[in-house]
Amino acid sequence: MPFLFRELLLRVSWSIVSPRGNVCARPEKCRKSPPARRLGGSAVRSLDPSRSLHRATFLALVFGCFGSDTPAKARRRFRSIQPGEYDEADPESGCVLTGAMMQPAAKHAVLQTCGVTLLLLPIAGYMWQKFTSKVASQSLSSLLAVLWTYRRTDFRGFMKSHRAAIQKGKESGDYVPGVMNYYSLMSDLITLTSGPFWHFVPMIKGLSRDESHVRFHHTLSQYLGAGKDDKVLEIGCGYGEMGRQVAKISGASVTGLTMADAEIEGGNLRIKEAGLDDRCKIVQGNYHKTEFQDASFDKVFGVYTLKYSSNLEAVFAEMARLLKPGGKFLSYEILVTDKFDSTNAEHREYVGNISTCTCMPPLWPAEAMRSAAKKAGLVPVVEEDIGAVATARPWYTCFTNGVYQILVCPLLLPFFRGAETLRLLPPAFSDWFENLLVHPTVDFVRAGRLGIISGTVVMTWQKP
Ligand SMILES: C[S@@+](CC[C@H](N)C(=O)[O-])C[C@H]1O[C@@H](n2cnc3c(N)ncnc32)[C@H](O)[C@@H]1O
Repeated sequence: MPFLFRELLLRVSWSIVSPRGNVCARPEKCRKSPPARRLGGSAVRSLDPSRSLHRATFLALVFGCFGSDTPAKARRRFRSIQPGEYDEADPESGCVLTGAMMQPAAKHAVLQTCGVTLLLLPIAGYMWQKFTSKVASQSLSSLLAVLWTYRRTDFRGFMKSHRAAIQKGKESGDYVPGVMNYYSLMSDLITLTSGPFWHFVPMIKGLSRDESHVRFHHTLSQYLGAGKDDKVLEIGCGYGEMGRQVAKISGASVTGLTMADAEIEGGNLRIKEAGLDDRCKIVQGNYHKTEFQDASFDKVFGVYTLKYSSNLEAVFAEMARLLKPGGKFLSYEILVTDKFDSTNAEHREYVGNISTCTCMPPLWPAEAMRSAAKKAGLVPVVEEDIGAVATARPWYTCFTNGVYQILVCPLLLPFFRGAETLRLLPPAFSDWFENLLVHPTVDFVRAGRLGIISGTVVMTWQKP
């Protein structure tokens, strides 16, 4: 750090720790025998503890955070103060406070500084871990990466089309244009901040988030029961991470079907990089009505995608058409539970926000899935909340362990609004940030805590 800056910091901190106010508590005595006062440390001992703490905290920040001096270096620096170097005259008492006299004060403050630094260490460690953790781990570094990567994005245009699409979806029941708009921006953003996982999984105790996802890949593959000669279709595949995992674990051939151009391009690139292009591919299409032949697949599955459909009966009829006799359809979905009460305003608010933020119709209850499957002639096999087991923490803890605390910080939005006004962030950044990042995250967690939605429901059906 340049010398001048260090010097400035030192002088500022010195003016804060200097015991001027306390010395003048008894000015008459002080005037009578200034030399005695000069030598004594009683002024220092009478320091007001709350003010001392303030000073010490400030010093901890100066020496600890700015890295100007370590506490040990600071101590050496204070000890080496020469008489006269930092002399100052108290205007009321006329007392001259010399550097030598102030040394006990400095010592006192430095000791406090060390104490407070020690207290601050765990916080500093926590912040350090958050700053340096993987970007794709929903952490503070993810937020910084978003600020940097999306600093020139047209959020105003994006939010305008997002709102228009929600309105259109509500009126017509067709959310596909909204899905395409949403994922044109959010595919990369979700992958940047959360990795290739665009769904919640049971957070297994003792395992990290990534390890819990790996465990989930195997669980899902087991429920699907695909073999190496099977032809599998993954509907609403995003970048197709789950399909690639199923292909790797089971040896099956997997076709992914999704809507947004970005997903198809990105997904096929990832298939190539994984060396799976002989068995996997991603194609564009709407799962309500696809172009595949009847009975094309042994297994069909969809992860977190039926929530985008406003017409489950059409989807299940299409799945029944695509499956070979004896074939299986698996859905892993986020659903409203029996605890959801549509007359409760709080319930309605959280669940409604989740839908509008991510441009989808209201979340379905399990009963709607059961009834649509029955209508399509599919026979239920398994229905299980795989997160409702003693070995797992709730699915939303992936948020509460990371990004949630950051996003609920009340200073963040005003800060971003200010940065937007100063043109440090693009227009409508804070609108997008609040409605498409903060809201769904917070609402998922709150609704999850109330138990009105579950993010870990597996349902399978067989075609007779
Ligand atoms: C939450 S993402 C899930 C992606 C992936 N299954 C995963 O869990 O990582 C929802 C996906 O469903 C796709 N989707 C939504 N509606 C669709 C439709 N009607 N037809 C095909 N794909 C659709 C979206 O484009 C997106 O890829």
